[in-house]
Amino acid sequence: MSLNQETLPMQYDAGLNFNYFTPTKIVFGTGCISELPIEVGALGKKAFLVTDQGLIETGLVDQIKNKLGALLAGVYADVPQDSGMEVVDNGAEQALSAGADTIVSLGGGSVIDTAKGMCIIMKEGGSFRDFQGMQMLTRQQTPHIVIPTTAGTGSEVTSGAVVMNKEQGQKVIIFEYFNTPRVAILDPRMTEPLPPNLTASTGMDAMTHAVESYVSQERNPISDAVALHAVKLIVKYLPLAVENGSDLTARGQMQIAALLAGWAFSNAMVGLVHAMAHSLGAVCGIPHGLANGLLLPHVMKFNLKQVPELLADIAIAMGADTGGVDALGAAEAAVNAMQALSKKIGLSQHLRDLGVGMDKLKECSELSMTDGSIIYNPIIIMDNEEVFAVYKEAF
Ligand SMILES: [Fe+2]
Repeated sequence: MSLNQETLPMQYDAGLNFNYFTPTKIVFGTGCISELPIEVGALGKKAFLVTDQGLIETGLVDQIKNKLGALLAGVYADVPQDSGMEVVDNGAEQALSAGADTIVSLGGGSVIDTAKGMCIIMKEGGSFRDFQGMQMLTRQQTPHIVIPTTAGTGSEVTSGAVVMNKEQGQKVIIFEYFNTPRVAILDPRMTEPLPPNLTASTGMDAMTHAVESYVSQERNPISDAVALHAVKLIVKYLPLAVENGSDLTARGQMQIAALLAGWAFSNAMVGLVHAMAHSLGAVCGIPHGLANGLLLPHVMKFNLKQVPELLADIAIAMGADTGGVDALGAAEAAVNAMQALSKKIGLSQHLRDLGVGMDKLKECSELSMTDGSIIYNPIIIMDNEEVFAVYKEAF
């Protein structure tokens, strides 16, 4: 059977049921950051800005402080790359003593997720360690406006947050519908200072969200639609944004792709790539996007025979040549296209190139089995040896 639209069924049956929850208001456009005071004023009286040291150097923090003017209650710029539970607790304490009732986060995934944790502690009290889990909250949390400075995490529109538990050496993931950001302000100029290597790796995080949600056991027709469009945008605009960081069209389309992929995965979840990337982050300190970008083609290959039609859809969305091949052949074309994209944007192709030792891969494999993402992978994984085999392929 040759590949055509009839060979690409959505594979749903009468048992399909799902919730789709995407409550975040999106404000998009070059220069739209000027709308920040209006958005803060609609939600509260005093905003606390959460960010990191690197963004102070870019001048973006000063820009936001100026925009907020009298609405600014204080600034917390101590969020590190892999934020921890104690960073969340400290930030919440400072925000409360500054009299803030609203959080504005300016940054990438680590900043946004720290701010999400702070929103919970400001409302519920206690420590972030008391809130590990999913859908435990029963009321709206502190209002949160997100200004992303990367295009990848999608955290600006998701209910999830990932924060490090340093005592246990593991990333803690929470999902709380009542803590989804109220507003995401996507101004392409906010991502302009991001250097090419981080543009590339964070962009592949978004690609991984799109692909993993599209093949997830929890996928649904709405997440499918947004995930596929995200794939189309990323394959076209990510190389352009990496090549020229001042291409505001490419920057803007990547912001949209990241949020679409965020919507997709916050409703359909992610899979094995994320389980493995979280473990590499916890054990070897490998940044999330870098790990995802490297592992994605290998996990697609691992899932190939389980979901060939779905990966064939990814190949078509990527504009790969699928002429004269069946679904399995097209799925292979998707793997090759993903590898080619990753090379084109200059990402590392081997874990050993990132300084990961072979001796760490057993520990990473075992840790991956305890990661919440793994259960949504299209192939159900029962043995950490299967994960180890994928790590070895990527080594
Ligand atoms: Fe991710």
